[in-house]
Amino acid sequence: MKISLVVAVSDNGVIGNKGKMPWKMRSDMKYFRHTTMHKPVIMGRKTWESLNAPLANRDNIVVTRQEGYSAEGAIVAPSVEKAIAMAEEFAVMRSATEVMVVGGSQIYELTLPVADRVYVTEVHMNVEGDTFFRPLDRAGWHEISRNSFEAGKRDDAGYSFVIYEKGPS
Ligand SMILES: NC(=O)c1ccc[n+]([C@@H]2O[C@H](COP(=O)([O-])OP(=O)(O)OC[C@H]3O[C@@H](n4cnc5c(N)ncnc54)[C@H](OP(=O)(O)O)[C@@H]3O)[C@@H](O)[C@H]2O)c1
Repeated sequence: MKISLVVAVSDNGVIGNKGKMPWKMRSDMKYFRHTTMHKPVIMGRKTWESLNAPLANRDNIVVTRQEGYSAEGAIVAPSVEKAIAMAEEFAVMRSATEVMVVGGSQIYELTLPVADRVYVTEVHMNVEGDTFFRPLDRAGWHEISRNSFEAGKRDDAGYSFVIYEKGPS
């Protein structure tokens, strides 16, 4: 089973500000939906609380240390290890071959060592923020695809969809 991270990051490394995404990027929202659809998604409690509703047609798994935390429409896991084990079971049930880690920063840090693939949307702007994604160690990851686009009507910036896989090229 592949473990994949999905992250959108600005040119200055920002992924979030005050609990929210610091841009409007409709094209990335569509890509995120397409990339994660019908797969289990693992997220930290703060990212979960930034959503208006569970991500539809995906098993939402929320990681928190809080005992008895209630997340309607999601399953709660006490650790990333537990979350990954649960996600793998859901993936098998859905005939998916990939579990998706969708943030935020704390959960990316914890899962990167066991991840196989990272889907990065480079958002080509510098933006103020308080939550960051550490650049991938280029010795440990190699780029397998890159597609760049001008900003669409409902995008704050141009962007590139980049996929990395673990290991040397
Ligand atoms: N640009 C993107 O692609 C993207 C994607 C996702 C999120 N974001 C942004 O990122 C920000 C949120 O990221 P964040 O790093 O602050 O928070 P986060 O990773 O979403 O959630 C952090 C929470 O996860 C739980 N947690 C962390 N480590 C744990 C462990 N070892 N065991 C059990 N639970 C653990 C804790 O929950 P408890 O405190 O409940 O114990 C912790 O407070 C927001 O601004 C959001 O909009 C951006």
